[in-house]
Amino acid sequence: MQYRHAPAANHAALDAVLASAPGRPTLPVRLTVELAGRARAHLPADAPLTVWDPCCGAGVTLTVLGLLVPGITRLVGTDADPEPLDLARRNLALLDPGGLAARAADLDALAARHDKPSYADAATAARTLVPASTPAWSVAVADARDTAAVRGVLAEASPDDAGPDLVLADLPHGIRTTWAAAPTRPAGAAADTPAPDAGPARAAAADQAQDQAPGVEFLRAVATVLRPDAVVVAVGRGRTVALPPGVRPLERVRVGHRAAVLVRAGALRDD
Ligand SMILES: C[S@@+](CC[C@H](N)C(=O)[O-])C[C@H]1O[C@@H](n2cnc3c(N)ncnc32)[C@H](O)[C@@H]1O
Repeated sequence: MQYRHAPAANHAALDAVLASAPGRPTLPVRLTVELAGRARAHLPADAPLTVWDPCCGAGVTLTVLGLLVPGITRLVGTDADPEPLDLARRNLALLDPGGLAARAADLDALAARHDKPSYADAATAARTLVPASTPAWSVAVADARDTAAVRGVLAEASPDDAGPDLVLADLPHGIRTTWAAAPTRPAGAAADTPAPDAGPARAAAADQAQDQAPGVEFLRAVATVLRPDAVVVAVGRGRTVALPPGVRPLERVRVGHRAAVLVRAGALRDD
């Protein structure tokens, strides 16, 4: 992938300003900014932007966007796991007035206590940073596949606007960031599996298997609560991010061991 929206930069100091948890890998800063830039190119120019991360974890993705991408008016984070949300609140508080100064003071104290120049460098970075956006933000627990819960959270987070314009989700991978257990299907609602005898039946079975992949189920559920013109960006590990059968992406990108897909919410919806 060629970077078009995120110039090369050393983000090590910014990484040090952000709080993250061991075993919870986050998206590289430059890739986060690039994907937001690409998504924005598919949205009305200069419109204020509400961004939702439905797998927000420690809130690093959202905070990086607020710090480095202008024009964001609202950030909403949800995650099925309550555990990382305190970290997310701590990171997103960097976007509040005085947030970076408070973090710089904490880092100064750490530098003094541990005699570590890296903390001092991070403190300097915190003092130097000027957030590109000063969005309202909120985080809440919600399984992204629980559309009723998610609708409630989004309505509460942004009662006065049309909901998220952009979704940026770093899909679960690895040990600490696995998919939450799937919600149980109501009795009798399990999909029938066609006998994989003839070609068309086999193709249908393959389509169905793809459709049931957790990432595909996740994308469909996320799209249900969005305006059709919203743009969804999903990032995964591996060669590709699966879409429901027949859905055409706006763009696909590959960077190292990651793949991302940009897709219009309306394309993911059945209705
Ligand atoms: C790769 S991490 C995301 C990291 C995050 N972007 C950050 O900045 O820290 C994936 C997250 O997805 C969450 N997750 C797993 N299954 C989920 C589901 N069904 N709905 C919402 N979140 C889920 C995990 O709890 C984990 O925090």
